[in-house]
Amino acid sequence: MKPSILVARAVFPDLVERLRAWFEVDDNPEDHILDRPQLIQRLQGKAGVITTGSERIDAQVLDACPELRAVCNMAVGYNNLDVPACTARGVLCSNTPDVLTETTADFGFALMMATARRITEAEHFLRRGEWTRWAYDMFIGADVHRATLAVLGMGRIGQAIARRGRFGFGMQVIYHNRSRLPADTEAELGARYVDKPTLLREADHLVIVVPYSAESHHLIGAQELAQMKPTATLTNIARGGIVDDVALASALRERRIAAAGLDVFEGEPRVHPDLLAVPNVVLTPHIASATVATRRAMFTLASDNLVAALGCGPDAGRPPTPLNPEVLSRMRPGLT
Ligand code: GLV
Repeated sequence: MKPSILVARAVFPDLVERLRAWFEVDDNPEDHILDRPQLIQRLQGKAGVITTGSERIDAQVLDACPELRAVCNMAVGYNNLDVPACTARGVLCSNTPDVLTETTADFGFALMMATARRITEAEHFLRRGEWTRWAYDMFIGADVHRATLAVLGMGRIGQAIARRGRFGFGMQVIYHNRSRLPADTEAELGARYVDKPTLLREADHLVIVVPYSAESHHLIGAQELAQMKPTATLTNIARGGIVDDVALASALRERRIAAAGLDVFEGEPRVHPDLLAVPNVVLTPHIASATVATRRAMFTLASDNLVAALGCGPDAGRPPTPLNPEVLSRMRPGLT
């Protein structure tokens, strides 16, 4: 008998179809958002699940779904998964690194540029029919080329953004990260490691790409914003909650920094009304990885992880991007 799995959100139907070769698939083509009781109910009897950032898998869900063996997240960020709780129960977790790096970096750069050059603010003005004459200071913004790009979080995506800045736009790249990059990587990127206060002080354009955790909650709040130049911009493509949205809205309102570009929000899909009320912020609905090729690659990688984790396919027992590979040696015989 084939194992049963759940695909929690609507995704490319042709790719979901491929999973039927290995599994009894319960999918969600209507894209209902499953609240916690519904998720638990749909996971009954399921050996695996493909989640997105919208589903939280924690000890309560795991204890209510004892047959669950694999949780494969269609995202590189996995703050929606309690990995230690999964590990303790022998449940394999995976995410989708690498396949979205360049696409996400493209978007981060685009958002930073839109922010620096006030593109959406200018477009709204034009659409409102307010463009009646030229003015020397109409939507005057900040240069990106040769400016100082400050990257907070220098993982794969941070490095891809640094490359764009350095080699595409001749920017000075500085970065701060929990651990410093090896010297040859720093040299290749032309990136200078600095402490956080220096990063904030020197940034013309700050781009945030750190993973969300208890440690990074409100990593940028009122105190940090106060250290930035009034001409600086801030772009967040990482996770809501890393930036204190209320503090940011007040810094923007009072022009203590020039502008912000946000793809992620605390408590999304709700957006704090203070942010909606300020003009100098570009707001997008968490779409940094949203290209056809990349979203297909993310689902394919999540599927490959699930197939292998549940002991199927040519790579049975060897999921490509596990988060807790230590679980594999403990999985039930027959599953790996
Ligand atoms: C998107 O936010 C991801 O983590 O992949």
